[in-house]
Amino acid sequence: MNAAPEAIAPEPARAAPASAELTIDVRGLNKHFGPRHVVKDFSLQVRRGEIYGFLGPNGSGKTTSIRMLCGLLTPDSGSGTCLGHDVIRETAAIKREVGYMTQRFSLWEDLTIRENLNFVARMYDMRHRRAAVDAALERLGLQSRADQLSGALSGGWKQRLSLAACLLHEPRLLLLDEPTAGVDPKARRDFWEEIHGLAASGLSVLVSTHYMDEAERCHRLAYIA
Ligand SMILES: Nc1ncnc2c1ncn2[C@@H]1O[C@H](COP(=O)(O)OP(=O)(O)OP(=O)(O)O)[C@@H](O)[C@H]1O
Ligand SMILES: [Mg+2]
Repeated sequence: MNAAPEAIAPEPARAAPASAELTIDVRGLNKHFGPRHVVKDFSLQVRRGEIYGFLGPNGSGKTTSIRMLCGLLTPDSGSGTCLGHDVIRETAAIKREVGYMTQRFSLWEDLTIRENLNFVARMYDMRHRRAAVDAALERLGLQSRADQLSGALSGGWKQRLSLAACLLHEPRLLLLDEPTAGVDPKARRDFWEEIHGLAASGLSVLVSTHYMDEAERCHRLAYIA
């Protein structure tokens, strides 16, 4: 990333919620891979219930930035909090409260939808797993396909499964890394309806995208050069 993100789109498509509570509040994050300075002075503030869009060309450091926010990568410098937890020292707490949807499908293709959700529920050591998995299947309209192998699903259904999996442990923040890549227009619309419903219920969402029409669906935007 060559520059700090710059706020654009002064007229949001939909009004941002009034809450001033900051879900993400980081300043001056940097990350090098060997000699390459991949993320440079990254600062971001995201409020509760806000859908924050994150744009930038390939290789600009979007995924790296998201991974630093959810505690999977340690920044070389900089500071801040995610969900009130320190991004350097309290990464375990962050991981428990964040739902991270990776850029590529990262569930098990040779497990069914239900088996994948059960596995994730076990990873989070959730109580009442069966009820939580049933509720997730219903919420995302996955019941009729619950016993299909995940590897055989279309892009849109894989995306719904990924979203169900990252919502299972009731996170307070969703980090969605190009969630609609390879998904047809109808499924993309449905997905965005779902995201708006979640944000209206108080969840904060940071979403990276290449699509300008999706950027219009966010409350605020940052662009990485
Ligand atoms: N673990 C790693 N080790 C070395 N280099 C890496 C690593 N992860 C990412 N990079 C490099 O850092 C740069 C930024 O990568 P990143 O995946 O964060 O960009 P991105 O904006 O998400 O790109 P895309 O739009 O293609 O997903 C790229 O040049 C990438 O090759
Ligand atoms: Mg990426």
